[in-house]
Amino acid sequence: MVSSEAAPLAKTGGLADVLGALPIALRETGDEVGVVIPRYGSIDLKGARRMYDQIPIYLGPARHVVAIYQAASTAFPLYLVDCPPLYDRKGFYGESGVDYPDNHIRFAVFARAALAVARLLYRTEIFHCHDWQAGLVPALLRSSFSTDPTFLGAKTVFTIHNLGYQGLFPRSALAEAGLEPAVFRPDGLEFFGRVSYIKGGISFADALTTVSPTYAREIQTPEYGFGLDGDLRDRASVLSGILNGVDYAEWSPQTDPHIPAAYSAEDLGGKATCKRRLLEEFGLPAEAMDRPLLGVVSRFTRQKGADLLAEAAARIVAEDVYLVALGTGDPEFEDFFRQMQQEHPGRIAVRIGFDNPLAHRIEAGADMFLMPSHYEPCGLNQIYSLHYGTVPVVRATGGLDDTIEEGTGFKFAEYSAEALLAAVRSAVQAFADREAWQRMMRRGMSKDFSWKTSAAAYSALYRRLLAR
Ligand code: ADP
Ligand code: GLC
Repeated sequence: MVSSEAAPLAKTGGLADVLGALPIALRETGDEVGVVIPRYGSIDLKGARRMYDQIPIYLGPARHVVAIYQAASTAFPLYLVDCPPLYDRKGFYGESGVDYPDNHIRFAVFARAALAVARLLYRTEIFHCHDWQAGLVPALLRSSFSTDPTFLGAKTVFTIHNLGYQGLFPRSALAEAGLEPAVFRPDGLEFFGRVSYIKGGISFADALTTVSPTYAREIQTPEYGFGLDGDLRDRASVLSGILNGVDYAEWSPQTDPHIPAAYSAEDLGGKATCKRRLLEEFGLPAEAMDRPLLGVVSRFTRQKGADLLAEAAARIVAEDVYLVALGTGDPEFEDFFRQMQQEHPGRIAVRIGFDNPLAHRIEAGADMFLMPSHYEPCGLNQIYSLHYGTVPVVRATGGLDDTIEEGTGFKFAEYSAEALLAAVRSAVQAFADREAWQRMMRRGMSKDFSWKTSAAAYSALYRRLLAR
């Protein structure tokens, strides 16, 4: 698998969770997986094994030199592409909301380095590539490397975790990234005169998947297609949706080391402790124990409905509820959340930042979890919420629609502050009947979204491709 993130070493979102768990789940189906990611500045090489040194990678005339390390004590081989000038930086993709100007170079070198790993260290039958950062792998295998005997018979799977991020670069990137001019065509990498790395996957992979069945349908429509719906419709016969699973070893209230008290569907007692401590941690009053506490853990972006939350927040807390939010993202929305906290002291409390233990404490301590996403390929937090007895209130889109049903959560369809508010009101009303509410919590907690089913679906796909 080729990816720009893998938990726990490199994570900004759900992509990392998937790469941290799916390779392990695939062992049960008899599939062996190695994962390749860049060695970012935040990844310590202490303990890692140097597997290969001084591999020259040419993008046209430009020469880059990479080394491959294998991370220490991971459950599967995790290869780190080390090239300090390109990856040893503060961010993965950029800093302070601005993309690095050489991302086309960074992820072109990365794609070729992944092929080098396959050539030198890890015999590969299937290249399973994730998101635009790995999009050049299928493109290279069909162009510059198409006659390379090492890769003869190898198949490619490209998984779209988020169509909103495409890796779009000016036309000049083609030569700078050392790509063959022939791939610059509408059914190749070209996207309205620019170079699109995600199209490397969409146009050239043997099979395409995305992370929920509903999102697989949605991305073929103009509303959710980000301009690529036509290309995806052209490839509909090889496109399928496979729902993400959850790593319950990481996300279970019975065993979670990050939360102050353990609890389960049979014994919910500890959840009250988690709520009380969360209120204290956020400086919210003890009265909130009797009222709904809403939680948000999110990238503060439009995708996640940050604009809806901004519009509805004052009216939400007017329902005599409390809100805790953790996130980072667009400065505009970060500022808004800070401002909400100032305007509603003792009602809304916010932490700007990325803090995994705190994300766990919010899942455990809140009564409800808000995800009013504009679009959501899968979404993991609502599935974690189910397992923590934290009732999700979600917009019915993508994976949110596929994982939340009447009886386990609250859904609304229209993308508007009014519709969000109406769903919150229904949830608040339901909360008043404590017994019925606990039944709802328990129904959610008993749902099984472990990786088993999804890993079996990927495994079957790999086998179909290899049998062709
Ligand atoms: P996405 O990948 O689109 O951000 P997902 O719901 O699939 O959305 O996954 C988000 C993952 O990132 C979850 O594991 C969530 O807990 C985590 N996460 C998001 N924001 C933060 C944050 N500010 N601090 C800690 N964890 C976060
Ligand atoms: C993306 C999507 C999210 C999905 C995650 C893992 O970040 O935004 O919905 O759960 O990838 O597939």
